[in-house]
Amino acid sequence: MSSVDFWGKKFHVVTYGCQMNVHESEKIRGLLYNLGMIESNDIEDADVVVFNTCCIREGAEDRAYNNIMALKKVKQADKSKIIVVCGCMPQQKNGKYNLKTKLPFVDIIIGTHNINMLDKYLLKFDETHKRIIDIMETPVASMDNVKSVRDDKTNAYVNIIYGCDKFCTYCIVPYVRGREKSRPVKEIYDEVKDLVQNQGYKFITLLGQNVNSYGKDLEEKMTFSTLLNQLCTIEGDFKIKFMTSHPMDFSDDLINVMKTQPKVAKALHLPVQSGSSKVLARMNRHYDIKHYMRIIKKVKHAIPNISLSTDIIVGFPGETERDFNQTMKLIKRVKYDQIFAFMYSKRTGTPAAEFLDQIDERTKSIRVNKLLRQQKLIQKDQVKKYFNRTYNCLIKQINGVAVGITDGGKEIYIPTYRYNNQNYFADIKVEDVRNHKLSGVIVR
Ligand code: 5AD
Ligand code: SF4
Repeated sequence: MSSVDFWGKKFHVVTYGCQMNVHESEKIRGLLYNLGMIESNDIEDADVVVFNTCCIREGAEDRAYNNIMALKKVKQADKSKIIVVCGCMPQQKNGKYNLKTKLPFVDIIIGTHNINMLDKYLLKFDETHKRIIDIMETPVASMDNVKSVRDDKTNAYVNIIYGCDKFCTYCIVPYVRGREKSRPVKEIYDEVKDLVQNQGYKFITLLGQNVNSYGKDLEEKMTFSTLLNQLCTIEGDFKIKFMTSHPMDFSDDLINVMKTQPKVAKALHLPVQSGSSKVLARMNRHYDIKHYMRIIKKVKHAIPNISLSTDIIVGFPGETERDFNQTMKLIKRVKYDQIFAFMYSKRTGTPAAEFLDQIDERTKSIRVNKLLRQQKLIQKDQVKKYFNRTYNCLIKQINGVAVGITDGGKEIYIPTYRYNNQNYFADIKVEDVRNHKLSGVIVR
C-alpha cells in the first residue's frame, strides 16, 4: 500500500498537556502532511483523528478519555474514519483507563517511544484494517528530523532534551517519557538558525523536562549554559526562552548567561512545588527552601527586570496546614508574575501514590483556591513594579494598536507610537500604570 491512498484526505490532531506535547503534535502534523494529507478544523469531518494525550494528572486523562469517547458514535456512522490515540496515556502502565479494552473503536494505539512510526502504522492499517496496538519500552527513533508544522509564527519550540531522570515521587513523567537524552548541539544550532534566519521567528523556546540537565549524557559533555552561549552566536534579531528548569541543577553560570546575553529572555520558570522543606524532601526534589530562595535572590539581584513563574502542588501526601502556610508565605516573598497551582493527583506506579497520609479532595480544593486568590492579589500589586522601568520588548500590532510584549509576556501599550512595521525588539519605558494596564514609550 502506498501513501497515495492518503493524498488529499483530511486529518485533525487534538493535543493535551505540556509544551512538549504541543511541539510533538507539530511533528505529527508534519508526518501527516508528508503523506499528502490536509488539515481540517472539523474533528467530525476528518478522515484521520489523532489524540495526543497527557497523563500528568487525573483531570488530563479524564478530559482526553471523554473526548475520545465522544467520537464513538461518529466512528460507528463512518467506519472509514481512522482514530489514533498516542502520547503519554497509552504509555502509562495500569493507568486509570485501560484504553485497549475501553476504546475498541480506536484503530491505532501507540505510546511515546514510537510516535515517529505513525505514518507507517497508518499505511499498514489502511492495508490490513487490523487494529494496531504497539507500546514500546524504549525509544525506537526520534522525531528530530521530521519537519514541524507550526501555527505560531512568533515563537517556535525546539526540543533540546527528552525524558527525565529526576523521579520526583509524585510524577509519572520519568515512567512514560523514559531516561534523559540530549540532542546533539549541532542539530539544535542548525534548527534554531533556520527558524531565525529563514523563517523569521522572534522567540525560540528550548524544551525539556529538565533543560538544566542538558549535555550530561552527550559523548562530548556540555552544559546548558554553554549551549545557550553557542546559540547566542547565531546572527539575527531574536530571543531564547527555555523551560523547564530544576532548582537542583540551576547554576550560577546560567544566571550569568541570562544576565549578560541580550538574546536570552529575561524570564524564568522555576518550579518550586512546595514552600515546605519537609514536603520537598518527601517529593524527592533534592533541594530545600533555603536553596531555592538563594537562587531567587541571586537571579533578582543579577536581573532586576526578571519575570518569574513557578509550578506548585498543593495537598501532597502529609501536607499539613503549617506546610501549606509555608507555601503561602513563599509566594508572598518571591512575588511571582505567574504561578501554576495544581491539586496533587495520585499517579499509579509512583511512590507518592503509596503514601498513607493522602489529603482529602476538599482540603486540596480549599488550599488551591486560597493560593490562587493570594496570587491574584500579588499580581495586581506587582504591576506597580513596572512603573518607570525599561523593558526590551517585541513590538506587535494588536487590533491596530502598537504593543510591546515583554519577555514574560506582559503587554505594554504604546499609544503615541505611529508604527509602520512590527516584529522587532525595542526598549520601552513604562510611563503609566492604570487599571492594571501598562503603557509606555519607545526609548531605543
Ligand atoms: N499531581 C499534581 N501535579 C503534578 N505535577 C506533576 N505531577 C503531578 C501530580 N501527580 C505538576 C508539577 C509539574 C507540573 C508540570 O505538573 O507541578 O511541575
Ligand atoms: Fe516530573 Fe520531577 Fe521530572 Fe519534572 S523533574 S518531569 S516534576 S520527575
